[in-house]
This record gives sequence, structure tokens and C-alpha cells, in this order.
Amino acid sequence: MTREAKLRTPPAAVVDNLNGTHDTAPRHVDCIVGARPNFVKIAPIIRALREQDGLVVRLIHTGQHYDITMNAVFFEELDIPGADINLEVGSGTGTEQTARIMLGLEPVLVARRPDLVLVVGDVNSTLAAALVAAKLNIPIAHVEAGLRSFDRTMPEEINRLVTDRLADLLFVTERRGIDNLIKEGLHPERVKFVGNVMIDTVYACLDRAVPAPKTLAEVGANADFINAAMETGFGFVTLHRPSNVDDPVKLKLLVEALVEVARKIRLVFPLHPRTRAKIVNAGLDRLHSESGIVTTSPLSYLRALGLMREAKLAITDSGGVQEETTALGVPCLTVRDNTERPATLEEGTNLLVGTSPAALMPAVEDIIATGGKTGRIPALWDGKAAIRIAQHVRAFLNVEQGCARPIRHRPETDPLESNTCG
Ligand code: UD1
Repeated sequence: MTREAKLRTPPAAVVDNLNGTHDTAPRHVDCIVGARPNFVKIAPIIRALREQDGLVVRLIHTGQHYDITMNAVFFEELDIPGADINLEVGSGTGTEQTARIMLGLEPVLVARRPDLVLVVGDVNSTLAAALVAAKLNIPIAHVEAGLRSFDRTMPEEINRLVTDRLADLLFVTERRGIDNLIKEGLHPERVKFVGNVMIDTVYACLDRAVPAPKTLAEVGANADFINAAMETGFGFVTLHRPSNVDDPVKLKLLVEALVEVARKIRLVFPLHPRTRAKIVNAGLDRLHSESGIVTTSPLSYLRALGLMREAKLAITDSGGVQEETTALGVPCLTVRDNTERPATLEEGTNLLVGTSPAALMPAVEDIIATGGKTGRIPALWDGKAAIRIAQHVRAFLNVEQGCARPIRHRPETDPLESNTCG
């Protein structure tokens, strides 16, 4: 028996098959969220899981993001039921956050022993929850598995690598994710290509997206700005990665490049708390009063979606925005040297411009002149990913057959593989 197999004994679900009866007790699924992009992903998953008979679903919030604008507003707009438990861990270094989440989550999972812990994305909350579940021998499902930037200086890449290694069900958004996981030695049976829940949320919310002029007025843009933005187009900007905003020298060059770009096209720039703090510290906070840039606090999902849909282009370092602009057909310039979401480059509207600010202007000018890159929607980005996930979860927990215990998906050679209901 391999070490991994030994660790992966089924959880303490009720087993009552000795006399031939099936355990039809509901299966408990704990979904863990912590940061803004998690909320966008979990909304359709919670809905789809709660529609399945035989599943009892609980939502646990780690509290990694806590500001109203980064947190509560998303729950409200995306109609996510309030969290059953909030660990309220707050901010800290990556290690502090991860450790606090682990300490807070362990007793919660010990008390209930769910049949499955479901984690999404690549934030510190994702990693911390996966580690706790793995140590308690509770099966793990990871939504958005297999994405790799191959850049271990990104905290998210470490979170992805470890979470995938620990997960039993790996839900993949794009084909390259399957290849990455197989190359890393994960068994194909664990890997499920389901599509992209981020795009489920885009499609579910498009009808309710706030029109761009309304949002621009709300955030204080004057009539000239709004008229120009709507007549000649505007750019939607988000930047928050440590690699772009933490070094004041790099940040200054980047902000100067944006000021240059704003001479060609109006820019709307919602500031992540990290970015706002770094801009203020670097003395760059006058950028909006001197240029065609409107800065705002973080925008609600429906406002950001409305702006993105109507933008001529996006400038970003966010993974979510790269995917959302591909789904919306809006050209996207990604201020990074790599992306873990290659489908947005190969099939979608995304272009990597690198982190040299000098590269930004020519790319913007090209979009203004030509309309920019067009693309197609990647496979299974069709608004139904969460339904596929719910069906796989149900099958994994063997709800339909009323089987006594969840099945752990293991290599066929794994001696514990016989530990299933047939
Ligand atoms: C996290 C994720 C990142 C994701 C991003 C989306 C990790 C490693 N990174 O980065 O992948 O793209 O969320 O926003 O998990 N802060 C507030 N209010 C809040 C939340 C954060 O002021 O509600 C401040 C914190 O005090 C901290 C900074 O923002 O100074 C960064 O927050 P943190 O949660 O550490 O990571 P993010 O940069 O948000």
C-alpha cells in the first residue's frame, strides 16, 4: 500500500451494510470560501449543490476578505446564502493567514466530519482548508484545478500545486489543466473537465449588470468623462498582484504608463485595498486628478461586470478578469509575464504584455486602431459548469446508490480501490 493510499482511508461515514441495508443518510459537504474571487465561483456551486437531493451543504467563510466592498456586497449581489460559520481570520502574511485559517477550521471540521470539503481557486484560504481536510482524512474537491503559471514566486502557484496534490476530485476549467495534472502524476480518474464556474456567474448576472454610465456617475466621473468614455470608449483597469504593486519604483512606472494611456483613452481603475495603500505610500495618489483616470474603491460584481462588458479594453493582472473578458469578447491586456489561464491567450481575447510599462502603450494603440484581438469561447465555458460539478460530487459521494461510504478516487492499482459500492 502506498503512503498516499494509507492516508486516504474513507472518512467516518456511517457504514451499515452488514445486514444488507444501505445507508441513505444525507452526505455533508462543507464549501470553504475566503476571498473575493472565491465568492464569484461559489455562487453557482452552492446553488447547484443545494438542488441535489441527499446533500447537506454548509458554507464556511474564513474571513480572509472582510471589507464590505470586497465581501458582503458580493454575497448580496450574487445571492449567496450567508456563511454558516465565519472564522474571521482577517489580514496577515500568507503564512499567518494560512495558519490562522487552519487553527480555526480544524475544530469546525472535527465537530461535524463532513463527507467532502470543497475548495475553490488558489487563494490562501483554499490551501489552508485543503491542508486541514487532508490531515483529517476528509476527501477534498478542488474547483479550478490544474492551472499552472509555472512561476513559484506567485503565492497562488504554491497554493494551486499543494491543493491539487491533496485533492480527490479535481475540477478543471480548461483542457491544459488536464495535461498539467496528468504530467504531475495525478490519476486521470480524479480529473473532471467541467468548464468554468466564473463564467457561469458572468452569464447568470449579465442581465442585471449595472450600465457603465450609471456606475461612472456613481463613482464621481464628470459629464465630460462619461460622454467621452461612452462615445470613444474606455479602458477598465485592475492591478493588485504583489509583483506589480508592492515595489514603489515599479508601481510608479506602471502608474505613469497608465497616465500616458489615459491621454488616448479614458480609464476606470477600481483600487484593491493593497493597491490603494501602495499608491498612497508611494505618493502617487494624485493620478486621477491630473489625468483621464477615474479611480474608485473596489466595485461590486454587477458594477464591474457592467463596466467590463462595455469597455473597449481591459488592463489587468487578475486571473478572473482575463477569463471574464474572454467570455465577453473584450480585448484584455494582462500585465504579467505569464498566465495560468492559457485558453484566454490561445482561444480568447487576452494578450500578455509583460510587466514592462513601456509595452502597454503600443498594445493599447493597436486595440484603438484595430479593435484588438477577437476570440472564441473555450470549451465548456457555457454557464453549466456548476451543474456538472454537483453531479460529480453526487456520484463521488455515491448518493444515488445509497452506498454506505464515499468513494475515494484512486489509481486502479490502489489496493483500497475495492473499497467502493458496486
Ligand atoms: C487575494 C488572493 C489573490 C486574489 C485576491 C483578490 C492570496 C494569496 N491572494 O489577494 O489570489 O486575486 O485576493 O482580491 O490569497 N485587505 C483589506 N480588506 C479586505 C481584504 C484585504 O483591506 O477585505 C487588505 C489586507 O489588509 C492586505 C491586502 O488587502 O493588506 C491584501 O489582502 P490579502 O487577503 O492578503 O490578499 P489579496 O492581495 O487580496
